[in-house]
Amino acid sequence: MSSTNRQWKLTAYPTGMPQATNWDLVECPIPKPGANELLVQALYWDVAPYMRGRISPKKNYATGVSIGDVMVSGAIGKVIHSNSPAFQTDEIVVTDMGFGWQDFAVLSPANIRRVDPTIAPLPCWLDFMGINGLTAYFGLVEAAVIKPGDTVVVSAATGSVGQLVGQIAKIAGCRTIAITSSEDKINWCRELGYDEGLNYRTEPDLAAALGRVCPDGIDVFFDNTSGPIHDAVLQNLAAHARITLCGTVSLADRFDEPDIGPRFLRQILVARARIQGFLVLDYQLRYPEAWQRLTHWYNAGLINQKYDIDEGGLTNLPSAFLRLLNGQKFGKQLVKALPLN
Ligand SMILES: NC(=O)c1ccc[n+]([C@@H]2O[C@H](COP(=O)([O-])OP(=O)(O)OC[C@H]3O[C@@H](n4cnc5c(N)ncnc54)[C@H](OP(=O)(O)O)[C@@H]3O)[C@@H](O)[C@H]2O)c1
Repeated sequence: MSSTNRQWKLTAYPTGMPQATNWDLVECPIPKPGANELLVQALYWDVAPYMRGRISPKKNYATGVSIGDVMVSGAIGKVIHSNSPAFQTDEIVVTDMGFGWQDFAVLSPANIRRVDPTIAPLPCWLDFMGINGLTAYFGLVEAAVIKPGDTVVVSAATGSVGQLVGQIAKIAGCRTIAITSSEDKINWCRELGYDEGLNYRTEPDLAAALGRVCPDGIDVFFDNTSGPIHDAVLQNLAAHARITLCGTVSLADRFDEPDIGPRFLRQILVARARIQGFLVLDYQLRYPEAWQRLTHWYNAGLINQKYDIDEGGLTNLPSAFLRLLNGQKFGKQLVKALPLN
């Protein structure tokens, strides 16, 4: 086993779009687990849009990464040494956000779950078997209160959350419209069961295009992006529309600035619509219910996710994150660890 731990540490908060120079790769000794702790070696790291919020000094719903700290992330890893009776050496575990961009981490049993590869392959545990499955489920079922026959529009539809939202909404008997950035991605959304797809980069008037594909209005908008896509949807709301405000990935290059755009508050009034700021962590007590249903749908062949896995190991983490923020990846983005000497 390697004797050093490589870590990506934050060197500066980005102004505008993050750059590779916002992190430094450093080496340090492998940490030692204390009583009831485990030493875990990364197999796959998560790369996700929430990380943009964690490298901003502005107020957030969770504590951010301080300058000089290891970059936050979840990971799937192998237990190298366990001082806990609950986990054995060589078991595979997952932590949603508690690992960081490093080869090894000391974790406590309270922050990890056991991965069972006979239920689903490893990457799925940072996707629909992880926080994003819960986000799609509770964001649709609880925040948006979907019902059969609803017209559901989803932004970032080929992302980890967006792929799932479309599939769960179809299971629930809704009509689904994907918004994404290329024809290839629209074709994939159709394979997933989305009824329609719109390319926000090439549509000259996205609001008008949404009006054409949703002539009776939009009942539910699962908003993963905010920004101009949000503005276009607000001009097409059906009566009593529900908007789940899940993410703001389109603001990655102006994170700390006011989100300036047209104001459509009158459309909220006219439609008697509701915008719900959504945070999956608010549903922690009900996670087992969601995982049970997601596993059931997966076993029934109703969940089919695409993954974009960078096989270049730890050194590629910043570039994989920048690809994500620039809309260049296709499917759930992960980075796979290389074998260590
Ligand atoms: N609130 C919560 O509790 C919670 C929990 C989990 C995730 N989230 C949020 O949910 C959203 C989706 O997460 P995810 O993990 O599914 O993301 P993901 O898999 O990383 O997908 C993100 C997608 O966003 C799109 N995108 C990037 N820049 C864009 C821009 N300027 N305008 C429009 N689209 C852009 C890209 O797809 P295109 O090719 O379509 O542009 C990209 O693939 C994120 O905003 C994330 O922060 C929230």
